[in-house]
Amino acid sequence: MEKDFTALMACDRTMIEDYLAGIFREEPRYADLQEAMEYSLLAGGKRIRPVLTLEVCRMCGGDPQAALPFACALEMIHTYSLIHDDLPAMDDDKLRRGRPTNHVVYGEATAILAGDGLLTAAFEQLAKAELPAQRIVEAVACLARNAGPGGMVGGQALDMAGEGRSMTRGELEQLQSLKTGALISAAAELGCIAAGGSPEQRQKVREYAQALGRAFQVQDDILDVTSTDEELGKNVGSDRVNEKTTFVTALGLEGSRTLVEELTQRAIRALDGFANVEFLIWLAQSLAKRTN
Ligand code: IPE
Ligand code: IPE
Ligand code: MG
Ligand code: MG
Ligand code: MG
Repeated sequence: MEKDFTALMACDRTMIEDYLAGIFREEPRYADLQEAMEYSLLAGGKRIRPVLTLEVCRMCGGDPQAALPFACALEMIHTYSLIHDDLPAMDDDKLRRGRPTNHVVYGEATAILAGDGLLTAAFEQLAKAELPAQRIVEAVACLARNAGPGGMVGGQALDMAGEGRSMTRGELEQLQSLKTGALISAAAELGCIAAGGSPEQRQKVREYAQALGRAFQVQDDILDVTSTDEELGKNVGSDRVNEKTTFVTALGLEGSRTLVEELTQRAIRALDGFANVEFLIWLAQSLAKRTN
């Protein structure tokens, strides 16, 4: 069974990589902007979010192929968030996806513009989906809401404002739900929207993904302390250098591991009532054990 899920994930990833590689292929090239966007976009991230879009679409009875533009739009926004997150003004990191960070290679101005370019071009991809117009409008609203000031960008603002001071558990939960949970939730919801799922389905999918997203960020906090640059493909120890409050500083390593387990169980319970939930259960369990 495990093997089948790994194969399904590999198959989804191939579809995603092919689509992403084609986005700027025929586009005009201005200075080094397109090269800088592709440098980060095609650097082989885990592609968890677009896989989630495709597989939630399948679970809700849709065709994953039709959800591919939504899935890749989400991955473009995620990639932009990483480019900006690594900038000297933010986390000031030098390694990402196993490569020097975008600003290290192209300079800060181009890295900022590469992020801006990916963010904007993501919405063009949503509009290109071969789906009923109503679903595309819902997707635009969902992605804008979760990526913007009420979602990921808002969480990043809280993250920066929290540097160098301690935070309450409640503040930390809110920050992480926004900076990471919101985009992971949008990834799952876009799959449901592409499939034409019901409001009840969308609500459950959101509950699954919000718990999954929180578990994902707590595991990210753990790996920042326990892993290596080589294994993660990014700089470990960044949170300590930047004096961030994380779940590791708040609960310790063991407490954080227990929390990942609890949030994973919460995610799985949210799928009660759906058929064909096996892959999404396996995904939640695998992410709780991930080492990169
Ligand atoms: C990193 O996300 C940023 C967080 C929200 C923790 P991922 O761990 O999914 O990074 P990639 O896409 O695999 O590079
Ligand atoms: C970043 O959180 C979440 C984003 C919105 C990019 P982190 O700053 O912990 O992500 P990493 O560890 O650099 O990937
Ligand atoms: Mg950060
Ligand atoms: Mg960072
Ligand atoms: Mg981190």
